[in-house]
Amino acid sequence: MKLLKVALLALITASIAAFAADSIEDRIKPVGDTCMAGDDCAAAAAAPATAAASGPRSGEDIYPKCASCHDTGAAGAPKLGDVAAWAPRLEKGIEVLYGHAISGFNGMPAKGLCFDCSDDEIKVTVDYMLEKSK
Ligand code: HEC
Repeated sequence: MKLLKVALLALITASIAAFAADSIEDRIKPVGDTCMAGDDCAAAAAAPATAAASGPRSGEDIYPKCASCHDTGAAGAPKLGDVAAWAPRLEKGIEVLYGHAISGFNGMPAKGLCFDCSDDEIKVTVDYMLEKSK
């Protein structure tokens, strides 16, 4: 009877030890799996970011973001191709137009609501709009 108790105790102790070892392994595993910058596994994760930063977009690329107002004339926006609407604006000087497009002007929201556009991307978009409106 005593032998059975010892055996049972040994079995219980062994399974507790195995269980503990398992859970410790589980707990430390994610650390070993973490992909560090510079590892091969990190290259795949970094790739899309590199693609997104592949240089500035053209005015033609960005203009669709402006079109909701500048195609329709919404809120008094000068329409693309409307020479009479753009000519007096251009007389203010191109730098003024850039500044208004970047910082906003009356109903014209800052950056035309293109929050991921750089200042230079806004400028080439203004150039594109003026080119299409003369
Ligand atoms: C929510 C509507 C809206 C969007 C979107 C919008 N605009 Fe405008 N924009 C306007 C309005 C309204 C005006 C006229 C403001 C005024 O003269 O009072 C205007 C005027 C301008 C002017 C002339 C500013 C001046 O000083 O005469 C430029 C340049 C311009 N927008 C560029 C852009 C560009 C570039 C984009 C896209 C990146 C854009 N806009 C997106 C509404 C918009």
